[in-house]
Amino acid sequence: MTQTAVALSTDARAAIAEALNQSVAETAVTTMLAQNFHWNVKGMAFGPLHDLFQKIYEDHFVAQDDLAERIRALDAHAEGTLAGMLERSKIKEHDGHATDKEMIKIMQEAQETLAATLAGCGELAAEHGDTLTEDLCIARGQDHEKFAWFLRAHLA
Ligand SMILES: [Fe+2]
Repeated sequence: MTQTAVALSTDARAAIAEALNQSVAETAVTTMLAQNFHWNVKGMAFGPLHDLFQKIYEDHFVAQDDLAERIRALDAHAEGTLAGMLERSKIKEHDGHATDKEMIKIMQEAQETLAATLAGCGELAAEHGDTLTEDLCIARGQDHEKFAWFLRAHLA
């Protein structure tokens, strides 16, 4: 049965918030990764890659806020430290020393990881009947798969 935030049990809200915090952490780490690559990318495709990495970090900056605020709507704590996010995130930071192709590949894999994390978060929300979180996660997962395709297309 569909449940809104107030109708969810404390345990359900905690479990969903945990999955959302994982999503926020990976989105935030990828925001920084995209800005890092936006700054440091080199090569003949500098212009479009500089722009694409900017599109990604701008999208992710908005998304991390939407996900964190959903956690607060569930009356749970949103992890707000970089150290905490880095500890949780399966996506890791990069020193920014890489070729343009390596950057594309690293960002593609980050987008695929994010799509999987968001799909899992949506599935967990659905198990608890939390349709509204599920919807947010599905939409975000689709956005990450779109970015993964944009990046993959560069390497074809
Ligand atoms: Fe810039």
